[in-house]
Amino acid sequence: MDIPWWRDAVVYEIYVRSFADASGDGVGDLVGVRERLPYLAQLGVDAIWLTPFYPSPMADGGYDVADYRGVDPLFGTLADFEALVADAHTHGMKVLVDIVPNHSSSGHPWFQEALAGRGRDRYVFRDEPNNWQSTFSGPAWTQVDDGQWYLHLFAPEQPDFNWRNPEVHEEFLDVLRFWLDRGVDGFRIDVAMGLYKAEGLPDVGDQSFMSVSPIWGQPEVHEVYRQWRKLLESYPGERMAVGEVWTDSAADLALYVRPDELHQSFNFAWLQAPWSPTAFKKVIDDTLGTVPFATWVLSNHDVVRHRTRYDTADPGTGLARAKAALLVMLALPGSAYLYQGEELGLPEVKDIPPEARQDPIFFQSKGTLPGRDGCRVPLPWSGDAAPFGFSPQGVDPWLPQPGTFAALTAEAQSGDSDSTLEFYRRALACRRDLVRSIPYHLEWMDSPEGALFFTRGSLTCVINCGPEPVPLPPYDHLIMSSGPITGDSLPPDTAAWLQA
Ligand code: GLC
Repeated sequence: MDIPWWRDAVVYEIYVRSFADASGDGVGDLVGVRERLPYLAQLGVDAIWLTPFYPSPMADGGYDVADYRGVDPLFGTLADFEALVADAHTHGMKVLVDIVPNHSSSGHPWFQEALAGRGRDRYVFRDEPNNWQSTFSGPAWTQVDDGQWYLHLFAPEQPDFNWRNPEVHEEFLDVLRFWLDRGVDGFRIDVAMGLYKAEGLPDVGDQSFMSVSPIWGQPEVHEVYRQWRKLLESYPGERMAVGEVWTDSAADLALYVRPDELHQSFNFAWLQAPWSPTAFKKVIDDTLGTVPFATWVLSNHDVVRHRTRYDTADPGTGLARAKAALLVMLALPGSAYLYQGEELGLPEVKDIPPEARQDPIFFQSKGTLPGRDGCRVPLPWSGDAAPFGFSPQGVDPWLPQPGTFAALTAEAQSGDSDSTLEFYRRALACRRDLVRSIPYHLEWMDSPEGALFFTRGSLTCVINCGPEPVPLPPYDHLIMSSGPITGDSLPPDTAAWLQA
């Protein structure tokens, strides 16, 4: 079998609002992305995933889509999108776009019609709500003027579609065709374990993301992905789809990537694992034992950046661990998803003032949850003061950037061989050389306490999660390491690639 491009691809998530602002309104846009394609090509990624740029009232940063076939003026035009795809392809990069099928915006014409009393069957309207809560906190139901209630598993501005209505299926097949016709190489499916809800909408005890739940992962959803797979395969090129599937079981995750469904699914168990060799080994074994094509992700626009998640009282630990985790992730079989800014070693920004916060989670929880703004702060490109080249000088970005970003700009790090950016560039270049010459299969080696050693053919990857140095296994040549290595021992919070 020919190996599909996505099997080992490194995909870079672009949270468009926070990547680069070419228009000078403080919000990132498609022209900004296009201008930075050379940076991404130099970084060495195989594909980009663009978060939603469709017309939207922006109640949830664009995950509230009012028109699935357009570009919001905030982000540019359809012509900008087409030029971006063409340029990305010229640079040898694939383009994935985000599809949001669980819910639309309340500004979508269908929902506006529903409010006027027509076509309510495209959404979930009831005379009485059940006890479901919104993922963003607060009730999952909002009452409309005539007394009925509609379901929204996220913000009230994000009404859930009724996937038991065939019109919804037809609409999304057409939306996929629209973007496939414009040359996209694939889709990231938002809340892919959503869409269907159990018949009768029974009350629920625990409504966290679980494999068995009346809210998530209904068996009917798989038929949707079977149809989508057929559509993707009817197009030339290897078009693909990756699902955002939050679940508590690897076996459940595997259902979404059966050969006639989605090509990939995010593996959030890796991102949720604590800094522990046993936890890492378990996730790796569970993943490789259940899914044919693995994916790995450490950060995205919904979670605390991993540099900060891995922090301890010792200030250097978070970044050391983040770099070590990257080397392990890039050595594992499968594809890796990076989140913009991790290559700069950006931390979570924790001190955004309440009046500057934008995430609906902050507002719906009445300020009791910080929300996700801290990982969405606009990227620092250059210069020593805000807007750090994100926007033209004198423009305030949509979220404030901390002064500490000055040391982390792409400009400050470029050419400095000790920087995180140059480390990412080296790691991605090495991986590109290695990946097709080693087997997909991984083998564990005996590992000292606190460490994890594995091989893939001639590549040995080692990580030390423990507090003491451990002896390295025998090797011919050190390919690269995430921190300094002296003699034959691997320091704490360090990973390395060895040629056996
Ligand atoms: C997904 C997105 C998240 C969004 C939610 C609702 O989880 O990644 O950002 O808020 O779906 O669309």
